[in-house]
Amino acid sequence: MFIRRLIRPNMSSSLRFHTKVLQVKPESITFSPNSIWDGSLPVISDPETKQALLEAAHIIRDTDETVAFPTETVYGLGGSSLNDQSVINIYKAKNRPSDNPLISHISSIDQLNRKIYSETGLGPSDILKNIPESYHKLIEKLWPGPLTILLPVPPASTSTLSKLTTADQPTFAVRIPSDPVARALIALSDTPIAAPSANASTRPSPTLASHVYHDLQGKIPLILDGGACKVGVESTVVDGLCSPPLLLRPGGFTYEDIVNIGGSFWKDCKVENMKTIKANEKVRTPGMKYKHYAPSAKVVLLEPSKDDGKLEKQSHFKDIFRRETAQIPNLQKIAILTTKYLDGISLSSLDDSHLYNILVKTLGQNGEEIQANLFAALRHVDEEDKVDLIFVEGIPEEDEGLAVMNRLRKAAANNCIDF
Ligand code: TXA
Ligand code: MG
Repeated sequence: MFIRRLIRPNMSSSLRFHTKVLQVKPESITFSPNSIWDGSLPVISDPETKQALLEAAHIIRDTDETVAFPTETVYGLGGSSLNDQSVINIYKAKNRPSDNPLISHISSIDQLNRKIYSETGLGPSDILKNIPESYHKLIEKLWPGPLTILLPVPPASTSTLSKLTTADQPTFAVRIPSDPVARALIALSDTPIAAPSANASTRPSPTLASHVYHDLQGKIPLILDGGACKVGVESTVVDGLCSPPLLLRPGGFTYEDIVNIGGSFWKDCKVENMKTIKANEKVRTPGMKYKHYAPSAKVVLLEPSKDDGKLEKQSHFKDIFRRETAQIPNLQKIAILTTKYLDGISLSSLDDSHLYNILVKTLGQNGEEIQANLFAALRHVDEEDKVDLIFVEGIPEEDEGLAVMNRLRKAAANNCIDF
């Protein structure tokens, strides 16, 4: 066992709550198609789900505390975007640097106008007046869903949006999630909800309520458990306030989706390239400069380079396995997370494999499956199986591959090997 397992942060020092977990049924919540515009409330057929949502909505609307809840991407840790103390409590529970701004989650365009811009009674002709035209095609097709856009921060004289959500940027980030539990919570509290992913800072994002409990137990009062998140990586963050527009964080919608759906303005959308940003530079998406998605175990990412056959790839992996295992003293448990070529690899073909306990798990057969399983697989081998070393087979950076490889590179820090 490695020393790093013994020096995990001591959670007990700041335990403030008995964290309650309430089950909710997403399938019992129905929104009308027009609700994204007019803000009409959902119908909730399951009484327990309704009760749990009302309890969570009360915490968001009437207290300074936070609630973890499922979204279609990952679980979020939410507090009122309009209340400084709630935002402080989010940063505190996650132990997150406060110069990393938060996304405000809204349930409808009506709510954005009323609660962030203090404008009521807008009709069909001016309902989108607070959203620049560059975004209109995207949001008409992709909201509700995993798309986050940047908007100019409204003047403090007309808005109570907490400055702490924006970390002093001239813009704020906003999205309408498609997960019915998330949207119902925002609609019932009638409050824009600031919500980062509900993991402890630096850890992989949570896609199950049990991941949230593992990281934040004792630090928050309530977790709504709505099952596994379907998308599995965070929302795509885009900046359409500059020209050419920028994809700041690849996520649940692909770069190809944005370019194909966004209209001519998005045709030459650039991808923010983190490799060229220096440590002390002010970046467009500050979250990108921090350590992220890091399991306790060492992660080695196999970066697809040329398209060899399966036999060549597996033989190449044998060399990598020999080299990497030799570098770690007292190595006991190893996980191999496979995608295309390492699926079905024979363990007996690996040098000294009898000395180790080796687990082989597939991440999935296609981009969507791999994306949905990614964080849960990393957490499982790290937190449940307690392996010392994780090999992950990467995928090409197209479609879902861009978001998957973005997360995996951070999980692996600098341990990336051409494969
Ligand atoms: O899917 C998601 O987006 C999830 C769920 C809970 O909605 N939330 C999430 O939040 O991933 P978080 O805080 O883990 O990531 C938000 C990202 C960060 O990279 C942050 O730097 C960026 O959005 N961001 C927020 N406001 C920004 C702004 N004004 N300008 C540039 N980037 C911003
Ligand atoms: Mg996060």
